[in-house]
Amino acid sequence: MANKSWKVLVTGGAGYIGSHTVLELLQADFEVVVIDNLSNAYKDDNNIKPECILRIEKLTNKKIVFIQCDITNLNELRDIFKKHKFHSVIHFAALKAVGESCEKPLEYYKTNVCGTLNLLKVMRDFNVKCNCTNPYGKTKYMVEEILKDLCTSNQEWSVISLRYFNPVGAHSSGQIGEDPNGVPNNLMPYIAQVSVGKREILYIYGNDYDTPDGTGVRDYIHITDLAMGHVKAMIYQKIHNSTGFKVFNLGTGKGYSVLEVIQAFEKASGQKIPYKIVERRAGDISASYADASLANKELGWQATKNIGDMCLDTWKWQQNNPNGYKR
Ligand code: UFG
Repeated sequence: MANKSWKVLVTGGAGYIGSHTVLELLQADFEVVVIDNLSNAYKDDNNIKPECILRIEKLTNKKIVFIQCDITNLNELRDIFKKHKFHSVIHFAALKAVGESCEKPLEYYKTNVCGTLNLLKVMRDFNVKCNCTNPYGKTKYMVEEILKDLCTSNQEWSVISLRYFNPVGAHSSGQIGEDPNGVPNNLMPYIAQVSVGKREILYIYGNDYDTPDGTGVRDYIHITDLAMGHVKAMIYQKIHNSTGFKVFNLGTGKGYSVLEVIQAFEKASGQKIPYKIVERRAGDISASYADASLANKELGWQATKNIGDMCLDTWKWQQNNPNGYKR
């Protein structure tokens, strides 16, 4: 079947990773329906669609069906599946702040675990068994276990779980990007806000880790590469009629320290990023990077953008949109 008549439901499609994936799906000619509860997306009162969706429509010259809906509402989900016949589902709708999850654990389990269960229930009832997912935090493990059991129970399910490393950057147009609520939790959006003067100084959480310069090392991946990973995974399911539960890492395989990221950002932006070393952050580890060779072998996917591209596109987005999607 041509991509044009392949209808994809994207949950959480108005978020950072969701929106970039929606753009790549449209560019690959898929038909896209987005549901999102707007918990982390900006919508102007005069519009029925969030700002990022309007911008994607403009960039691609294509229309997106947008439905405001919370995945914890089973009846609303059912109504959507009654109205649309989906071929695939890509599931991004989840809460993802590590600190917040310690303060509000029940909200996290409700959205990430119960919400995913609702979605799977409706998919089963409407016989949509092609699913590509990424839940966050501790709930990630639980949901992967649930998906495994589901795939064992019925061979018709085809589920791909994509494990991300550290997604950063923005679409090269500078029109869509990451727009965190409040104080950014993550390194790159924090640096970006310092670069435009929204925050005074970056706090580096520890320089006594067992790494070459003592600061934490992570595998940063450009958001467009990550988005393409989802397109490739879905095309893989579509072409191979694959069944069962599969897991792929999406990363570059290369780690950068906090100090190296600052240096790369300063080079890309021409801005000085003042910083101060403070205590380690609870829960952080010294280094984490991906072996993405399986995604390369099976999905034919590989990261194409380097740390310079990631910083340049972050800078472009932040400069164009110092206040995110709010004009
Ligand atoms: N860091 C700072 N200062 C900051 C923010 C981060 O020094 O203001 C450091 C951290 O200590 C770490 C590195 O920058 O060494 C990266 O931190 P991020 O918060 O950007 O990323 P994490 O690796 O902690 O988080 C990633 C994902 C999260 C996910 C988490 C756990 O970005 O969404 O892994 O899986 F929840």
